[in-house]
This record gives sequence, structure tokens and C-alpha cells, in this order.
Amino acid sequence: MPHIVIDKIKDISYPQKIGDVEFLFRAENLIGVKTNNAKFLITFYKKDKGYIVKYDKITRPIISEIKKAYEAFIKLNEAEVLFENIKGIKEKLLNKNLLDITSDLSGIDIVEVGFGSGRHLIHLAKTNPDKTILGIEIHKPSIEQVLKRIEYEKIKNIRVLNHDARIILSKIPSNQLSEIYVHFPVPWDKKPHRRVINKDFINESKRTLKKDGFLHLRTDSENYFNYSLNEFLDFDKTELKIRKNMPYIVSSKYEDRWKKLNKNIYDIYMINYEISPPVKEEFDFSFKNRLHINDFKPKVFDKFVIHIEKVFKINNEKELIRLTLGNFNRPEHVYILNKEKPEYFKLPAPIKENYLAHLKLRELYELSKSE
Ligand SMILES: C[S@@+](CC[C@H](N)C(=O)[O-])C[C@H]1O[C@@H](n2cnc3c(N)ncnc32)[C@H](O)[C@@H]1O
Repeated sequence: MPHIVIDKIKDISYPQKIGDVEFLFRAENLIGVKTNNAKFLITFYKKDKGYIVKYDKITRPIISEIKKAYEAFIKLNEAEVLFENIKGIKEKLLNKNLLDITSDLSGIDIVEVGFGSGRHLIHLAKTNPDKTILGIEIHKPSIEQVLKRIEYEKIKNIRVLNHDARIILSKIPSNQLSEIYVHFPVPWDKKPHRRVINKDFINESKRTLKKDGFLHLRTDSENYFNYSLNEFLDFDKTELKIRKNMPYIVSSKYEDRWKKLNKNIYDIYMINYEISPPVKEEFDFSFKNRLHINDFKPKVFDKFVIHIEKVFKINNEKELIRLTLGNFNRPEHVYILNKEKPEYFKLPAPIKENYLAHLKLRELYELSKSE
């Protein structure tokens, strides 16, 4: 991890500004930093004869901003550098095909969930040159492999996103997609809550699909097929088409494997015949009143979790709260600057589960003005 070791940390009052780096506050061993391009935290602790200074993983910015902050921090403390391993680190080039949870997804036409080696994703891109295809994958090496391949083959219409597809779908506007593919999802027989196909996912698929658009599930697991069929049957205004051992235009790596084992392969096509209302996508993450933290137990609700992890004191009026909130499978780590009118140090991603957790947080911990 890129870090520096310096000989001393001076006891200084905050805020302070060195060049265009602002040091906003100190909350125990965390320091709030603002540059022209980023807002993040650095942290320090004593080791042997010096102080190790690192960036905080939750708010990590790009390396150039970390470098700027370290240099300014050295000046601020009039410190001597005992060690550094940051100068040689090169910036990873931003890849415009790699999206994240905050990206605008309004230009996407087709989605593939869990694309693995990416054979089918690339086939989709080549056979739909006028459409933009989004591949969503939780496995980072698959993302990197496909990014290399699309660069090598100069494919222009694929975007990839490294996240849980069940969360991302809620970010896509209604009636926008013509196709959604879920090929050979992990069956998760022992942990069914991890399955991609579930009622929420089908609901979101239906909402994001155009009228006459379809979701295609292909699986080698009879159990998953039966389970999914049952879930699909819960939805009105759809048509289900079922196929068994039908060849498909592209055979993925998994499919090749199952065919060698002579396994059955099942397809379900769910065609959507409904036009869905638009969804409100503006989430207000503001607070009205100071939060009063009186318990640190993780709280699990139906669609989200909240776990206050630690409170760092800044001064008598302010503190920094570290917590996780949002989707049960992929909660987000955030900080809140707790003061008369609290604010997130960096806003949570604008997704439904984060917003629901935010509202609950306010309900549970916000003090009313009279208290
Ligand atoms: C069995 S592999 C199939 C890969 C590919 N579709 C194929 O047919 O070869 C399942 C893939 O789904 C991905 N995956 C599992 N759960 C996911 C989720 N919730 N969101 C996105 N990708 C997921 C896994 O990382 C894995 O690459």
C-alpha cells in the first residue's frame, strides 16, 4: 500500500491549507483532506521511531491526489521523510469502458449478468453494433480480462461494471432494455439468498425491460431451473418460453464443460408485456439534526443493513462516524461528519437500499430539535 513514514506529527489546530490541499479536521488518527479534485481521509499511527501515514481505504482517491496530500502533510508537520514507496507508483489509466455504481446507465440497451469469460458478451456486441451492451460481473479478474479483450479487438459498444447485478439493475431507467441475459448463474443450492434470480431481480428486470423485451436464463441446474420457473410464474403480463437442450449461438466455457458431461441444459425466456412507470432516481441524503449514537449493534432490516462501527472525536461539537449501510450482500462503507447538521463525508452511491438505510438511520439516531 502506498505510504510514507515521517519522523514527527505536530500538534496543530485544523483546518489548515498548504497550497491547494486543505486539511479539514483531525478525528483521532484520521485527517480529513480536500484537494481540487477529491475529498478523502488519511490516517497515521506511531511505529518504532516514526509515524506511518496511509490513505484510508474507504475514501481512497486516485494516486495523484494521495501523493499531493502526503507532500502537503510532510510540509504541514515540518517533518522529515524516513521512508516512502509512492513516487514510483504510476496512475492506472482510467478506462472509459469501466463504469461504476455512480455512472449514468441511461444509454444501455442490453445487459448481461455474470459474463465470466465474456464470450457471449462479445458476441452480443458484434451482432448488435448499434446497441450498447453492459456486462455486470462480481469477479474482478473477469472484468479485467474482458477490458483487455475489448481494447485488443477495438470493440466500441461494451461497458463493464464490477458489482452485484442485483443492485445495479435498480439504477437503470424503466422500459429501456431490449434484452437481459443470465447464463449459467451460480446455483447456490446451499445459500439461496445469493442467487441472482429472485423476485426482486425479476421485478427490476420487468421494470427495466421495454415492452416485448426479454430476460433469458440458461442453466444446467435442474434445481435452479425449477426454482426460477416458480419465481417467474409470480409475475403478470409476461410470457414464459421454456426449452430443453436447445443449442445456442454461442457456447460459453461453462456450457462446453456441461456438454462434455452430458448434462441437460434448460432455457427460460421471460417476455415482458408491460410498460412500467418511471422511477424517481433522486435520493436526498441530507440530515436535519445531529445524530445521537447510543448503540453499535448491526441492524438487519428486510432490504438493507446499518452498522455503526466507530465514532472518532474531532472536538466537543463534532465527530466522525464510520458505518456500513445499504444492501445486505454489498453494504457500503461511509463516514458521516456528525455536527449540528450532519453530512456524509462522501455521499453513498445513489441506490435504493442506501437511501432506505439513510432514512432508517435518521429515524433511529437523529435527535429532534427539542432534545
Ligand atoms: C458459473 S459462471 C458463468 C459465466 C458465464 N455466464 C458463462 O456462461 O460461462 C457465473 C458468473 O456469474 C458471476 N456472478 C455471480 N453472482 C453475480 C452477481 N450477483 N452479479 C454479477 N455477477 C455475478 C460470477 O462471478 C461468475 O462469473
